[in-house]
Amino acid sequence: MNKISIVGAGMTGATAAHWLAERELADLVLVDIVEGMPQGKSLDMLQAMPIIGKDVRVTGANEYAATEGSDIIIITAGLPRKPGMSRDDLLSANAEIVGRAAEETLKHSPDAIYIVLTNPLDTMAYLTLKKAGLPRQRVLGQAGILDSARMRAFVALETGVSVENINCYVLGGHGDEMVPLTRHSNIAGIPLKEYLTADKLEAIVARTRKGGGEIVNLLKTGSAYYAPSAACAQMAEAILKNKHLIVPCAAYMQGEYGLDDMFFGVPVMLGRDGVERIVEYKFDDDEQAMFDKSAASVKETHEALKKLVTL
Ligand code: APR
Repeated sequence: MNKISIVGAGMTGATAAHWLAERELADLVLVDIVEGMPQGKSLDMLQAMPIIGKDVRVTGANEYAATEGSDIIIITAGLPRKPGMSRDDLLSANAEIVGRAAEETLKHSPDAIYIVLTNPLDTMAYLTLKKAGLPRQRVLGQAGILDSARMRAFVALETGVSVENINCYVLGGHGDEMVPLTRHSNIAGIPLKEYLTADKLEAIVARTRKGGGEIVNLLKTGSAYYAPSAACAQMAEAILKNKHLIVPCAAYMQGEYGLDDMFFGVPVMLGRDGVERIVEYKFDDDEQAMFDKSAASVKETHEALKKLVTL
């Protein structure tokens, strides 16, 4: 049986375990600093397995030793946003937590592939890669599947067509400057622009960009977790089943799209080695301008990180 360890057993981490258990992909370990909490949640989840008919062992721990020999490490530890905060406001608090999680887990799982969910996403993935000294194949950030799913959900609500028929592609950094590619998005092959008026499409794009913030404002005490963790489970499945699935993820750029030494949301082919390939779209001028603006914003957060920690 494969093994997936999730660092941070809060809302996102525990819900990721839930989605993963449903997929019966791997035994699961939840790690958190709060005493008893990961143990309690995992015991509860373990007791659900006979009901849903999945042979998955779920354990909880406060020590990294429990993650020994993991195939995948998911990092969700850290603070979530509160109303009025941007993802970048979380930088200094979460950099320390994520840096330590990356270093400690690597000692016990030297071959693991990392999926990072903690925000600010692109920069926390960058930190993980640098701190753990990993090749770029083995570090991914979860964001693009989520941002694209938000757009897909809004298009489904507007059109009444099955979510399965709706293909949307949102690239770029996981922030308000993200890049929804309306020209590439379609419903069963028919461009979105033929289904929706320009006004409706614009409203959907705007709501997608602020999709996380809308939920933060409603919840008031934390940020979204069902959809982010579902996206994470899809990535883990693509990796463990060696599916060669192309999905938008944050990946380390080495010249693709003209970007270097930074994480950014691009279409990635996922397989058993992690990042197998980065797919490059051709952009028109407007798309390129949005892409450049988003890249500049992520770069800025990377630079702020470099002032806080030695990489
Ligand atoms: N080691 C392990 N766990 C930690 C550590 C640490 N050093 N520091 C904090 N945690 C745990 C907290 O105890 C908490 O249980 O991380 C968990 C975070 O859970 P929540 O507060 O419920 O936050 P969540 O909604 O899961 O978001 C976590 O993911 O999507 C992002 O923006 C979000 O950065 C945030 C992260």
